[in-house]
Amino acid sequence: MRTIPVLLAIILASTAYAQQPTAINAFHYQVKKSVTASHGAVVSAHPLASQAGLQMLQQGGNAVDAAIATQLALAVVYPAAGNLGGGGFLVAHLKDGKDLAIDYREKAPSAASRNMYIDASGNANTKLSQDGHLASGVPGTVAGIFASLPYAKLTIQQLIAPAITLAEKGFAITEREANSLNATQEQFSKLNTQANAFVRKRPWKAGDTLVQKDLAATLKRISTNGRAGFYEGETAALIIAEMKRGKGLITEADLKAYEAKERPAVSFFYKDYRIVTMPLPSSGGVALQQMMGMVEKYPLAAWGFHSVSAMQLMIEAERRAYADRAQFLGDPDFVKVPVKQLTSAAYLRERMKDYNPRQAGSSKLTGAGTVYESDETTHLSVMDTEGNAVSVTTTLNGGYGSKVVVGGAGFFLNNEMDDFSVKPGVPNMYGLVGTEANAVAPGKRMLSSMTPTIVLKKDKPYIVAGTPGGSTIITSVFQTLLNILEFNLPTQQAVDAPKFHHQWLPDVVDVEEDFDETPLQGLRQMGYKVISRGAIGRTEVIKVNGKGQLEAVGDKRGDDSAAGY
Ligand code: DON
Repeated sequence: MRTIPVLLAIILASTAYAQQPTAINAFHYQVKKSVTASHGAVVSAHPLASQAGLQMLQQGGNAVDAAIATQLALAVVYPAAGNLGGGGFLVAHLKDGKDLAIDYREKAPSAASRNMYIDASGNANTKLSQDGHLASGVPGTVAGIFASLPYAKLTIQQLIAPAITLAEKGFAITEREANSLNATQEQFSKLNTQANAFVRKRPWKAGDTLVQKDLAATLKRISTNGRAGFYEGETAALIIAEMKRGKGLITEADLKAYEAKERPAVSFFYKDYRIVTMPLPSSGGVALQQMMGMVEKYPLAAWGFHSVSAMQLMIEAERRAYADRAQFLGDPDFVKVPVKQLTSAAYLRERMKDYNPRQAGSSKLTGAGTVYESDETTHLSVMDTEGNAVSVTTTLNGGYGSKVVVGGAGFFLNNEMDDFSVKPGVPNMYGLVGTEANAVAPGKRMLSSMTPTIVLKKDKPYIVAGTPGGSTIITSVFQTLLNILEFNLPTQQAVDAPKFHHQWLPDVVDVEEDFDETPLQGLRQMGYKVISRGAIGRTEVIKVNGKGQLEAVGDKRGDDSAAGY
């Protein structure tokens, strides 16, 4: 008798925080670069995906709910990088104080082998690790979503609903998406044997509707059957059939065995701030800790933003961290990585001993340290009113991954195998080199640079940040954080300011085209080789401002868009 009023009270209480969700109009929407919100905010690479996340917050979901719904929507509206056929990392700081790191990185198929990309004459064939069926690792994204679900409040059916509608009914594509699809038509046609939603005779243009019926069906199978809706049954059968047609390696057993893993997050202090970020198999956390540790003792703020002194110090820290990355870092389930040593204060001091503030360092002279012991990815940031902060970077690796759409299932497969070191010293598509630690082995996770990060101030979420950009991810996060923590730039400027990047090899400083010439002259005079290049990163930041509001900022470099309420 008493259960009805009690139930009613519970329902009323749980809906008290919820509000009518803002409707998504998939054919009429706008990019919003910046939003100030008091309840919750989402920022991602696409306005419709950010809106899907916002809807979950408005329905009483938390930041994890919003992150899941945003990821699923990105798999539809941002096919170049949002994905079901790739992998990613989620870093969160939850309201109960728990730091969370979920690893859903792809794994090498069980039939993969050390020399699978080396031809008869001993040369590395990176074409095979970059395009087509052999380039794909076993996808992790759907397992990652289900590993995140226990921290969410809504059901998978609620979280996946916006993605299903966007796939089934279609959405208007942006100009950027149209250009990107047009630029890849030839490769799509070459690498696919089945019809798919992305290839058509007429060029794509802004405002065209992209309908993805096969993808909608896959999403519905996930909605009904959970992770088995992807790793088993019809979706798995379609992936295996695709592998057979293209001589790929992923088997039914590989799919069934795939597991996402919760790992202890990397956590360290930079001055009074606690930084929470991704551990191995991302190199990002270790390298960020190293770089921040190497620069912490220097008067960066006094030297000033983009001053020659500050830039040079940061470049030298980057050089040393990337040299260590190449030598030591790999999947911790397969190789022993001396993380403690590499991040200890004594080691980092020693690494900076040969830093000369008047002269360029040299990657020939600066190898990895000595330890004494046996374009396309996407990021989303979310904060909610309960005190949860979530940072997710997810990837297919290159734009549209392997460029292979799983016939009948409607999603692209990754080309993440190229993130392994296919042969010692041979650069991957981001120019990164590696050694044995990151060699291909069956079931191994390839080393990543993805660095989803959260900064805590007095143990409360202060900044959520992350970005795509291959090897430039770690240096982009490093610079964006220092832009706020040291150089005091307003959030939008901290995100949009031109960036520089050094990755040990090649021994050059990459800078974005709009970089101010003055400090570059100074660097050249010290002996640095400075090279101008296209955009570096697409950073999504949420920062808590002085009034306790959430400032969500999307990067100027893409269609990145913020939403909040
Ligand atoms: O995991 C990694 O480090 C790469 N697969 C990321 C690729 C990427 O960021 C491409 N984006 N532009």
